[in-house]
Amino acid sequence: MAIHPPKGTHDLYGAEAEGFRYLEEVLMTLAEFYGFTPMRTPIFEATELFARGVGASSDIVRKEMFTFPDKAGRSLTLRPEGTAGVMRAIVSNKLHAQAELPLKYYYYGPIFRYERPQRGRYREFYQFGLETIGDASPYRDVEVILYAITALGYLGLNNVVTKINFLGGAKTRDAYRQALREYFTPHIHHMCRDCQERHQLNPLRILDCKIDEDRKIIEKAPIINDFLNEEERAYFKVVTTTLDSFGINYQIDDNLVRGLDYYSDLVFEFHLRKNETEDYGALGGGGHYTELLQEVGGPALAGTGLAFGMERLYLVLKENGLLPAPAPEVDVFVMNVGKASVEDAFSILTLIRNSGYKAEINLDDRSFKALFKRAERKRAPLALIIGDDEVKENVVQIKDLAKATQVTVAYEDIISYLDEFYTREAGDDAGEKA
Ligand code: HAM
Repeated sequence: MAIHPPKGTHDLYGAEAEGFRYLEEVLMTLAEFYGFTPMRTPIFEATELFARGVGASSDIVRKEMFTFPDKAGRSLTLRPEGTAGVMRAIVSNKLHAQAELPLKYYYYGPIFRYERPQRGRYREFYQFGLETIGDASPYRDVEVILYAITALGYLGLNNVVTKINFLGGAKTRDAYRQALREYFTPHIHHMCRDCQERHQLNPLRILDCKIDEDRKIIEKAPIINDFLNEEERAYFKVVTTTLDSFGINYQIDDNLVRGLDYYSDLVFEFHLRKNETEDYGALGGGGHYTELLQEVGGPALAGTGLAFGMERLYLVLKENGLLPAPAPEVDVFVMNVGKASVEDAFSILTLIRNSGYKAEINLDDRSFKALFKRAERKRAPLALIIGDDEVKENVVQIKDLAKATQVTVAYEDIISYLDEFYTREAGDDAGEKA
């Protein structure tokens, strides 16, 4: 009986795996231009980390975590996001005391949330994220948004809208929560069960509710902006003025609170419209946090970060024809025809690989036609043909598959032939792009 993949998971291979690698390369390279260095944290952590870090009132902690006891009875959780793990790693390794501040890390890997699977929503999905910690300047927040907009621009997504909101500090949020609790009290019995729980736990979360009936009530709720103090207003002003000066297309969204409890001050999300009525869902999001590092046992250092959802980015690039053309799987497809030539063919293959070219060989007995089909499927620019006659003379045939031209090349000249061919190709490509 076939074993099915667990619900909400997906296998990555072929064009999608290549697409993910392309995304990862663009996001990673640009992160390094912005001074971020790589960090990898464990895929599972003590459950306590997320309960404290992400917060007890978040949907993630309330109902979406993959939590299990290990053999010694410790409660572990598959990471439902990346930020808390990075904070834990900073504390565990005392990075705040050893390295220059701000600490700047990027990460990439699988994230697990027990959600109802749908388009663009999985139970195991990939995030590319980054965090900058130890510098409370509003320009660090802007830097993270600029990174995101620049990255999305490189990927060809120039119509992204950045939604932003300012949640203020703990005092402001407490006062706002209180006002929301009071506002919702007469309505809450008509609202969804989730909202009823949120009303108890953290009424800010109600603003996230997607149910139409509830949204009508939410629309008239007090807004956080009316609760900000002078200092918070000034900070927010620096952010918006700087975004303006960079021509960033942003919208202030009073209901944007984000699904994780650690945020304070600035929060943001990147959205792309699919058409008049539909949105692709947030391609990424993030914000500022002031207490998170302390919450997990570190010093009081503020941070800002974001994470992109790779599945959503891939989907958007695919649907908009923005993925790069698939690269050749191999530079040379070695075609061995005949029994006597296999040994020579295999050592030529190895020589080609060791000289820095991607190469593949057939080791079965196939017709020429079938071999050329194979080379074509691998998008090989060159086929290297070797049969018993060639072995006798220590030569091979090299065929340029696009031009359908063929030359005889001595064994000892194979690599210099490839070098010349690929130098010429690189020159042509550069010429075409110029
Ligand atoms: P988040 O908004 O929960 O933020 O997730 C970031 C992105 O992950 C979302 O915008 C979305 O693209 C993607 N995503 C979320 N859930 C799913 C899912 N079930 N399936 C597919 N993609 C999904 C965070 O996780 C924060 N840690 C970001 C951050 C970093 N804030 C500060 N630093």
